Amino acid sequence: MAHIISVINNKGGTGKTTTTLNLGMALSGLGYKVLLIDFDSQSNLTSSLGINKVENHIGKLLLNDLKINDVLVPLEHLSVIPSTNYLLDYEYRINSEPGREYLLKEALEPIHPDFDYIIVDCAPSLGTFAINSLVAADYFIVPMQAENFAFIGLDKIIQITDKVKKRMNSRIEMAGILFVKYSARTKFSKAVFKSLSGNVRFKRKVFETKIRTDISLMESTAFGENVFSYAPKSHGAEDYLNLANEFIKKYGKK
Ligand SMILES: Nc1ncnc2c1ncn2[C@@H]1O[C@H](COP(=O)(O)OP(=O)(O)O)[C@@H](O)[C@H]1O
Ligand SMILES: [Mg+2]
Repeated sequence: MAHIISVINNKGGTGKTTTTLNLGMALSGLGYKVLLIDFDSQSNLTSSLGINKVENHIGKLLLNDLKINDVLVPLEHLSVIPSTNYLLDYEYRINSEPGREYLLKEALEPIHPDFDYIIVDCAPSLGTFAINSLVAADYFIVPMQAENFAFIGLDKIIQITDKVKKRMNSRIEMAGILFVKYSARTKFSKAVFKSLSGNVRFKRKVFETKIRTDISLMESTAFGENVFSYAPKSHGAEDYLNLANEFIKKYGKK
């Protein structure tokens, strides 16, 4: 059975896509079979994998217009189910489907044996697609910047995931909060990390690995690459490899 990880945060620009791509690449480099799912109509993950024209996308899979093998794109190191900017229309359309929160889970069932890890890059929202990702997932990761007000968004995410766990998916577990664009030099970053790690609600659920601010992470996605091919010796590559190892150690496939 594949482990499914939802990368979620209802705020934009918190490192979800960067994390999905580079955690996926790191796991693939460690020998695991990886599938990434672009669940955002902005399609940043799709374009960061160098895919530009998309006909067959996740929306069509959810509505059963296409089968999984028609939407799955095998690439050199991993596979992806791409997105398109038409995806928002599909979110409205699935709202009238019975059991609309279960569509992703159902769609992924046939390919569980083919992958070790399936990582879902969510849109900055807690709408129907995000709930679909949580209903399908075993774990969720919340990337965030160490900044003021980050806590407020976090409470909302915990409320929603608690409800999903209670009502729809008792398996789901928070893998951790992941600090991105982290600067160990600023007192503020350190203070936020310390206060979150010490918070009973998130106890031991903050990743020890922090993703440092690194221009290579920004540049690589802009050039349609991942950080391992673009700058293998960068901090970004080192940090995402450490994250993959930490994840495997805590929750990984044995
Ligand atoms: N650790 C980092 N260092 C520097 N830039 C980063 C880092 N993580 C993400 N970025 C940049 O921040 C922006 C937002 O990241 P992204 O992963 O697209 O966020 P989201 O998917 O949550 O909207 C992008 O331009 C990305 O390249
Ligand atoms: Mg994104």
